[in-house]
Amino acid sequence: MREIIYADNAATSWPKPPEVVEAVGEFLRNCSGSPGRAAHKMALEASRIVFETREELAALISAPSSEQIVFTKCATEALNLALFGLLRPGDRVVATTMEHNAVARPLYYLERHRGIAVTYVRCREDGSLDLDRLRQTLIEVSPRLLVVNHASNVTGTIVPLAEVAEMKGPALLLVDAAQSAGALEIDVSQGLDLVALTGHKSLLGPTGTGALYIAPGLEELIEPLGLGGTGSRSESLEQPSFLPDRFESGTPNTVGLAGLKAGLNFIKKTGLARIREHEKGLTALFLEGLASIPGITVYGPGDPERQTSVVSLNIAGKDPAWVALELDRRYGIAVRPGLQCAPLAHQTIGTYPRGTVRFSWGYFSGPSDVEMTLVALKELARE
Ligand SMILES: Cc1ncc(COP(=O)(O)O)c(C=O)c1O
Repeated sequence: MREIIYADNAATSWPKPPEVVEAVGEFLRNCSGSPGRAAHKMALEASRIVFETREELAALISAPSSEQIVFTKCATEALNLALFGLLRPGDRVVATTMEHNAVARPLYYLERHRGIAVTYVRCREDGSLDLDRLRQTLIEVSPRLLVVNHASNVTGTIVPLAEVAEMKGPALLLVDAAQSAGALEIDVSQGLDLVALTGHKSLLGPTGTGALYIAPGLEELIEPLGLGGTGSRSESLEQPSFLPDRFESGTPNTVGLAGLKAGLNFIKKTGLARIREHEKGLTALFLEGLASIPGITVYGPGDPERQTSVVSLNIAGKDPAWVALELDRRYGIAVRPGLQCAPLAHQTIGTYPRGTVRFSWGYFSGPSDVEMTLVALKELARE
């Protein structure tokens, strides 16, 4: 038996592919220099790594050019850049009730302090987006920005992005792809204007990496969150207006990006379709097993086709925090209890304020992890 059964990949993926660990070590051992700031060999190598990571990420989401990828420290920073950078007093925003606090908190702040009006489209109890309701709300509100969470971090529920993009009208579409990048296909040419990604979940990179995809031309509408050195146009006190420099001030996380590049290469080599199939298989196995355990309620679609490998559940009469603690203490199973930073989503699925116990499988999880988890849950449910 493995020491840990890791079912917390929605928080951050583990283990990382050996190539990622190696790339980080290799960078720290042999590379230094700030990319774009010097001409010595190690600085050029750092520049090359950052450039190639940008190229790989752009290719993964079919971005027209890698300049449209702005690196950030996480999805939260990417979402803040999009929301604070884009929205102006008087703007109207439509978002869904499955949003993470990385969207809901900035929107709440902007509502209170910047005169922005936010309308939430209530999702169904399984977390799915009612497209008719969305269409109606878009007609009524006529927003400048529409924000959707591609895949819920609470229920795994997937939003059909192509259909949403088709109905957005003149609104710009910001997609929170924190849970989907590296797990589901993302094609920005479907009409996605802004996509926030994180590097440390299904992209299999280190923490401290993330990105915002900005569709061509939109950069002029977005104010940077910070200004400073970019290594370009150093003679001018004016921040460069071109991508990605407009939004990338200061020394980037080169070590992290070296790891992210290896994560992206791993995904390319393995194939996104194969990763998805593997995770769908585990989700199916888990859902089937859960259905036969008395006292367990599963939230979400309950259908591997309509969700990622995230599964939320509760055991009747048991506190989610207790269940998570006992899973860890007795069985070495790592999960995430509570609200998972998404109180609006829990209000939607009816589990607020106690939340759920969330399991999230990854590419390195196997059927035996799922089976042992089912045994543990059966025992806990019987107590
Ligand atoms: C749906 C969703 N959005 C945003 C975030 C924030 O991601 P990060 O931790 O990279 O800032 C998360 C992380 O859990 C998430 O699940």
